[in-house]
Amino acid sequence: EKEKTLAIIKPDGLAGNHTNKIKEIILDSGFSISREMIVQLDEDSVKRFYVEHSSKSFFPSLLKYMASGPVLIMVLEKESAVADWRAMIGPTDARKAKITHPYSIRAMCGLDLQQNCVHGSDSPDSAARETSFFFKESSSGQTFNSC
Ligand code: CMP
Repeated sequence: EKEKTLAIIKPDGLAGNHTNKIKEIILDSGFSISREMIVQLDEDSVKRFYVEHSSKSFFPSLLKYMASGPVLIMVLEKESAVADWRAMIGPTDARKAKITHPYSIRAMCGLDLQQNCVHGSDSPDSAARETSFFFKESSSGQTFNSC
């Protein structure tokens, strides 16, 4: 049965012109892209999206990074979309990924632990929350306007 996951091409990914390559990999891997939009997030939206990281020391830096330029948000669909997209993007630290998972998307397109080019939901529950965060009215009633 089909499953949805949320993918984000982060500011470093868009700025580095990796979008076409990443979308090609996504489509070649059997996903369909059912929703997509380019948005410029503000720090407050990033704060709410990444709320589970709010107590981490890197949180202020994460807010600045994710609001530093436009991002491409996509809903990907296929069987086992959540696990398969996570496997394709590779480890969080793009520097380590270059050694341990050289064919992963973060190894190919990411820079380091923070600027790791892409996001993927870590579970079906996160996927549902993250998808509705961007593509339905969020709890605050905010809607995101495409750039
Ligand atoms: P992601 O897994 O998509 O979501 C949380 C993000 O926070 C992560 O990607 C990185 O961009 C960033 N991140 C995670 N851990 C660290 C860290 N230790 N230092 C800096 N940034 C981090």
